[in-house]
Amino acid sequence: MSGLKLKLQEKIQVEKPRTEKLLKEYANVKVDEVNIGQIIGGMRDIKSLVTDVSYLDPFEGIRFRGLTIPEVFEKLPKDAGNEMPSVEGFFYFLLTGDIPTTKEVDEVKEEFNSRSKVPDFVFNILKSMPADSHPMTMFSAAILSMNKDSLFVKKYHEGVKKAVYWEYYYEDAMNLLAKLPEIAAFIYRLKYRNGDIIPPDPKLDFGANFAHMMGISKPYDEVARMYFILHSDHESGNVSAHTGHLVASALSDIFYAISAMLNGLAGPLHGLANEEVLRWLHGVMEKMGGKVPTEEEMKNFVYETLKTGVIPGYGHAVLRKTDPRYMAQREFCLKHLPNDTLFKYVDLLFKVVPPILLEQGKAKNPWPNVDAQSGVIQWYYGVKEYEFYTVLFGIGRALGVCSNIIWARALGYPIERPKSLTTAMLEEVAFGKK
Ligand code: MLT
Repeated sequence: MSGLKLKLQEKIQVEKPRTEKLLKEYANVKVDEVNIGQIIGGMRDIKSLVTDVSYLDPFEGIRFRGLTIPEVFEKLPKDAGNEMPSVEGFFYFLLTGDIPTTKEVDEVKEEFNSRSKVPDFVFNILKSMPADSHPMTMFSAAILSMNKDSLFVKKYHEGVKKAVYWEYYYEDAMNLLAKLPEIAAFIYRLKYRNGDIIPPDPKLDFGANFAHMMGISKPYDEVARMYFILHSDHESGNVSAHTGHLVASALSDIFYAISAMLNGLAGPLHGLANEEVLRWLHGVMEKMGGKVPTEEEMKNFVYETLKTGVIPGYGHAVLRKTDPRYMAQREFCLKHLPNDTLFKYVDLLFKVVPPILLEQGKAKNPWPNVDAQSGVIQWYYGVKEYEFYTVLFGIGRALGVCSNIIWARALGYPIERPKSLTTAMLEEVAFGKK
């Protein structure tokens, strides 16, 4: 058994009794009340999911396994000369809650390496898809096509015990995650670089290998690491995480679950928002003839947009302050691209949008979220195809959702099945029988 799997097994033995005790002795203890607004309104804020992988505080933002983003960047191991922690070490941390040693990180690197060969049929499927397919459709289809090799499916049919399901979800997750950088970079080069594919370099870590296969030089490897870490998890209620969890709760394998996760992420109200931010910024840039607007000019663009819509990248269902993922990327921009025109636009927006949204009183959260900053960095390093940005989000999110799914199986969570009511039933609750 690999070091990571062994560590996970130890952790599961400690954690499982906690869940069992809650279920056995405290199952009837009330946690929350639910109102009609929440039932009709997308189950907003209903406390009905459990995860220890991350927690989103509305005012503080995300904590991964108890650590804030600056703490993650500071405490997790970095390879010599690197600015960002390795994705491999971060995944170890997400899965186990422990900060790995360099040796433990190296073991994960080796594990990913040994599982990274993408089957030829995946490339053939991608090549046979219509040239105008969305990269998210291609990414999702590629992942789905690999479900035929799911170890969990094989073992399930052989009748393995429920208590060890997690082991096969772990194997499938490792097999899948190891292949994501190559599949995503293949889609990118196939679609936008005339199919000029760059083979992987097994000596490189997850982030650097991705940058290499994208054909983008340093410090894009740092961008990749930062991006995958920042987008990995945002507790369980967001559409992508919840979809992955829900699908896997039916014991659909990890390939089904992660493909479904991506399909949810592909919506404009979720992961596609980063694409919309860049489209909006470029619209303004075109009107300005490439010049950086004054504060007054930018305010006018914002007012104009607000007459008919929203400012993309601003607001969040849970957050009530600036997204720390935005701040982390902003710091990166201040260090690496402080004079970039597009970054100056973003910076100006950060100054003018929140007061306007506050003054209009429409937005519950007038602050920028992760999407307001991420596309700018990609654009700067030459990834100018907006529609690809969500694929990058998807690679990161798969790290968190795989961790959650493995834990859900380990803790024996059942199939998810909330109860629905009819409108008449809600009316009866609201104003009694007519
Ligand atoms: C996410 O990272 O999933 C988004 O910020 C959306 C959310 O948390 O609801």
